[in-house]
Amino acid sequence: MRLFALTGAGVSAESGLGTFRDKKGEGIWARFDPMKLATPEAFARDPEAVQAFYDARRRNLLGAEPNGAHFALAGLERALDARGGELTLVTQNIDDLHERAGSRRVIHMHGELLKARCVRCAAVLPQREDLGGSSRCPACETVGALRPHVVWFGEVPLHMEEISAALVRADRFAAIGTSGSVYPAAGFVAEARALGLGTCEINLEPSDNARLFDERRYGKASEAVAAWAREIVEAL
Ligand code: OAD
Repeated sequence: MRLFALTGAGVSAESGLGTFRDKKGEGIWARFDPMKLATPEAFARDPEAVQAFYDARRRNLLGAEPNGAHFALAGLERALDARGGELTLVTQNIDDLHERAGSRRVIHMHGELLKARCVRCAAVLPQREDLGGSSRCPACETVGALRPHVVWFGEVPLHMEEISAALVRADRFAAIGTSGSVYPAAGFVAEARALGLGTCEINLEPSDNARLFDERRYGKASEAVAAWAREIVEAL
């Protein structure tokens, strides 16, 4: 089996990282305006506010732990590898919880919070500390040119060629913990259907794209993903 799994903020919700949107209106983007914090224009206008927002999220991430959903996906990758199959794990999440749970190949299409990028020389560097206006790029020595290595609204997601190739190779598609409201990731299920893949959604509640999935499983990711992964491994 060649499985393509797309994950979103719901996978990390039980690790305490918060989601962006939910039906109760309590998500991150209900409390903070993404146009003031997650666009290149916002960073040009008010870099300190943008850095402070991501600094707080980075500190939160450093204190968080992977949950059962991350571990189940890492176990599924190992099981598929052992039987000549493949799991392509594409995440919209900027946290490193899939890696910390043991996933070996993770494609971060929206970037990574524990990395910084120099807007001057494009170097991508590990980043665990707060990023201030006086941070110096260790590659080109420019002061104040480091930004979080994350994709903002209006920017092109990363690794899109690799992602398209993996989707074409796959025979099954799963979307896990994502509201299906941000493109291009929200469009993967339609592409998967057009390619003839079986499609499965695992989420707390029906996503915006729920009708496009052949199979729908609703519940907390830590339990629902573990049960789904167990069924796949048993059927291999
Ligand atoms: P969202 O916050 O839009 O959606 C998270 C989904 O997870 C919702 O449908 C919730 O119902 C569901 N959920 C919440 N808790 C859950 C749990 N314990 N188990 C399972 N599901 C749960 O997050 P994404 O779809 O990932 O981009 O958002 C996509 C992109 O929008 C993000 O990558 C980010 C954001 O703006 C950028 O910042 C560029």
